[in-house]
Amino acid sequence: MAFLFRLKYNFPFTNQGLGGVFSQENQVSIIISMDNIRSYLTHLECTNCQQQFSAQEIHTLCSDCGKVLFARYDLTSVKGIWKKSDLLGRRNDIWRWFEIMPVLSVENVISLGEGATPLLHAHSLGEIHDAKQLYIKDEGLNPTGSFKARGLSAAVSKAKELGISSIAIPSAGNAAAALAAYGSRAKMEIHVFMPNDTPAMMMREAVVYDANLHLVDGLINQAGQELKASAKNWFDVSTLKEPYRAEGKKTMGLELAEQFNWSLPEAIIYPTGGGTGIVGMWKAFDELEQIGWIGSERPQMISVQSEGCAPIVRAFEKGDSHAELWEDAETIAPGMRVPVAVADYLMLQIIRESNGTALTVSDAEIHSSIHRIASQEGVFAAPEGAATYAAYEKLLANGHLQPEMSVVLFNTGSGMKTPDLITLPKKT
Ligand SMILES: Cc1ncc(COP(=O)(O)O)c(C=O)c1O
Repeated sequence: MAFLFRLKYNFPFTNQGLGGVFSQENQVSIIISMDNIRSYLTHLECTNCQQQFSAQEIHTLCSDCGKVLFARYDLTSVKGIWKKSDLLGRRNDIWRWFEIMPVLSVENVISLGEGATPLLHAHSLGEIHDAKQLYIKDEGLNPTGSFKARGLSAAVSKAKELGISSIAIPSAGNAAAALAAYGSRAKMEIHVFMPNDTPAMMMREAVVYDANLHLVDGLINQAGQELKASAKNWFDVSTLKEPYRAEGKKTMGLELAEQFNWSLPEAIIYPTGGGTGIVGMWKAFDELEQIGWIGSERPQMISVQSEGCAPIVRAFEKGDSHAELWEDAETIAPGMRVPVAVADYLMLQIIRESNGTALTVSDAEIHSSIHRIASQEGVFAAPEGAATYAAYEKLLANGHLQPEMSVVLFNTGSGMKTPDLITLPKKT
């Protein structure tokens, strides 16, 4: 059964020879053995003051300036030894990029098969706009139903490697669900802090994985404060306050490059909360260029937020390099109900450097886009993912994007987690 399950991913058989039936992390698969593969992680580096830190020790934000730390790799060596063809036949999850992933020993990898999501050609939606190159990257197919699985697989694996046994997160919902799943697989003590009006399914996920659920009267920033105030010895894996979740997220960018045959689309539209998606993918493109796998062209990185919570859009429009707290945030898209983000400066830099933009959509537009994407493409998108299509329509209408451009909409999660957004017809 497991054998057939892996075959559905259609591993190409290569002249490198097979690793045989190979059991790793309880997945029995025909894949090339990872035995002789290693990570080229070297250190952590502050994205603001460039201070360096050991990657063998536990770090969160830069202890000098309080900004985000990035994992750094010996990319010169990677360039010398790593070929695209080495990917053929490898396990088909985020860990196939092991050379530029932050875990040193493959035994520490905690995986549920995250990543390797499809890039769907959105023919029908495209036809409406005369757009032949519109795509949906469907992250709803990840374990725990969202792209958060990628980041939490990386963070939990690295935490295990660093000897951490109790772990906590403030979350808008999906990240908590993912931490609960990966943390339970790693046999860790898990604490999740989320708003008390988070969609019920995300709370249920935390419960079923046996995480300790802390409900907070407020939003994700309040959840973060309560976690901090609890002053327990739990390792806090808050968005980008912990350096390795972004490494998991960057695999979305690595996959896109591979799926576009080592080029990139002209624009990526991403629903933005804490910003790991945009930040992670941009880092991926930079690393791929440094190892010579792609050129210097970049997609426009386009951030979409909800009218009811748009700190990044407001800062972008004002020309600011930091985003102020958004008061009284409210939207039907829980993952975009993030009133303040530690990586605001990175997101704003990336959007500007890429000649991208930032825009809002209304809850009503999100709502109708859920139906439109489902009925046209067969994808039941999370409200955050649906927001990208609403944004695409607006950007075509105002001329920022043209129909002939290749554009990827990121559906970051499954609509099945927010069933209440779909109204059933009345019984007759
Ligand atoms: C489905 C979904 N999409 C998008 C986001 C926003 O992601 P990020 O915080 O990385 O910007 C979230 C965050 O919770 C989410 O759950």
